Amino acid sequence: MSQAVGKLLLFGATGDLAQRMLLPSLYGLHADGLLPAGLTITGTARSDHDDAGYRKFAADALDEFLPADRKDDSAVASFLDRLNYQPLDASQTDGFGVLAEKLGDISGGLAIFLSTAPWLFGPTIKGLESAGLAGDNVRIGLEKPLGRDLESSREINDIVALGFPEERTFRIDHYLGKETVQNIMALRFGNSLFEPIWNSHGVDHVQITVSETVGLEGRAGFYDDTGAMRDMVQNHMLQLLALIAMEPPARFDGTAIRDEKVKVLRSLRKMTPAEVPHLTVTGQYGPGASKGEIVKGYTEELGKPSGTETFVAIKANVDNWRWAGVPFYLRTGKRLAERRSEIVIQFKPVPHSIFADRGGQLQANTLVIRLQPEEYIRLLVMAKQPGLDRDGIRLREVPLNLALDHEFAGTRRRIAYERLLLDLIEGDPTLFVRRDEVEAQWEWIDGIRAGWEANDVHPKPYASGSWGPSAAIALTERDGVTWNE
Ligand code: BG6
Repeated sequence: MSQAVGKLLLFGATGDLAQRMLLPSLYGLHADGLLPAGLTITGTARSDHDDAGYRKFAADALDEFLPADRKDDSAVASFLDRLNYQPLDASQTDGFGVLAEKLGDISGGLAIFLSTAPWLFGPTIKGLESAGLAGDNVRIGLEKPLGRDLESSREINDIVALGFPEERTFRIDHYLGKETVQNIMALRFGNSLFEPIWNSHGVDHVQITVSETVGLEGRAGFYDDTGAMRDMVQNHMLQLLALIAMEPPARFDGTAIRDEKVKVLRSLRKMTPAEVPHLTVTGQYGPGASKGEIVKGYTEELGKPSGTETFVAIKANVDNWRWAGVPFYLRTGKRLAERRSEIVIQFKPVPHSIFADRGGQLQANTLVIRLQPEEYIRLLVMAKQPGLDRDGIRLREVPLNLALDHEFAGTRRRIAYERLLLDLIEGDPTLFVRRDEVEAQWEWIDGIRAGWEANDVHPKPYASGSWGPSAAIALTERDGVTWNE
């Protein structure tokens, strides 16, 4: 089933994600003529709007979250014309009949997007089924969090599977919608240059950093219950790792790519409880300065004591032929020194330096893939410094720089959800996460969390605006590795 649907149904249509991301993304697709001509968008949530009220709500969201230069009055008007709304308490199955009536004829196909709390998934799937909204021509997109451990994730997946088989289930990890994340595949499999050394013969280690400067952002309840490991590592960071480490898929399609990713996720070396404190670091931000402003510590912001981690660093290993002996260092956290998502591939040094006797110092090559806020791919190589030095040859590390925003300056940088919503509407599963991937991710994460529990690990304090607890630096320095900063 990979045909564009005629209708889109959004659960959680008045929520934060809808306002910030979903409505602006759908508008972007509409304004560029990418939505199917007759596609209607029905919003549903508990709030009591009629169609006109929801259009006003959507117009306000676009005013607030769409850059002014992206808004075109006539495109906004025709976009709002696509919208309608049905209030619904999704915990009550009997309301779904009215929803089905509102949707009307769905023979042209329906895509549903659930951006609601996972405890509502069960009643929602039941309601959809009872109202005839889970048939063969209906597909469903699921927003995270999909569980808090392997067991709860299986429960959610089982519930969803009652109404929707895997090929009609689209699990979202918004990192996969980012252009630069897809660029990892372009770089690896669209060029012959890197793949021969993309393994333990060529690579010394890999670093993956997703650092944020924001704190709780009004999501205190959710975040305190979740923590950085579940919020960022289980999904976004492991997906990045899988894309970096996977074998070349045979084709660019959902089955081939996800088959290769899941093999990597299953090859992640499980840690024994005794190893966990040596291979992981957790932290929690204290007061400090972020972007020039004094900010509160986590527990002050939260208003109560808490043992939740806002920072995690991990030394991971992928146990397969390609990556034997190559550490993957991961770190993520809130209120860190900079907002930055990047992958650093540190290649091995040359096997023999011909410059050593002539005073030349060599650095091993480094490839930096910066996902945000800037988008670039930078290869650090050694070059001769110009000059007639008699006593030797001076070399310096210089960047070969591909600035993607400059190179593709004429193209608009899209919100990740534009790609994902379009793929959901068109039925392309390639950039969605399959059940076996999610479960492999949880299995590995659960092992680490069990190790924290067994060893009574508490997050170490770090100052807001720093790069996390000093133990995170020690984690790599022990191996003679420095985080790219
Ligand atoms: C979300 C997390 O999945 O990703 C947030 O729940 C985090 O806590 C966000 O801030 C980061 O996404 P991005 O696209 O801003 O890097």
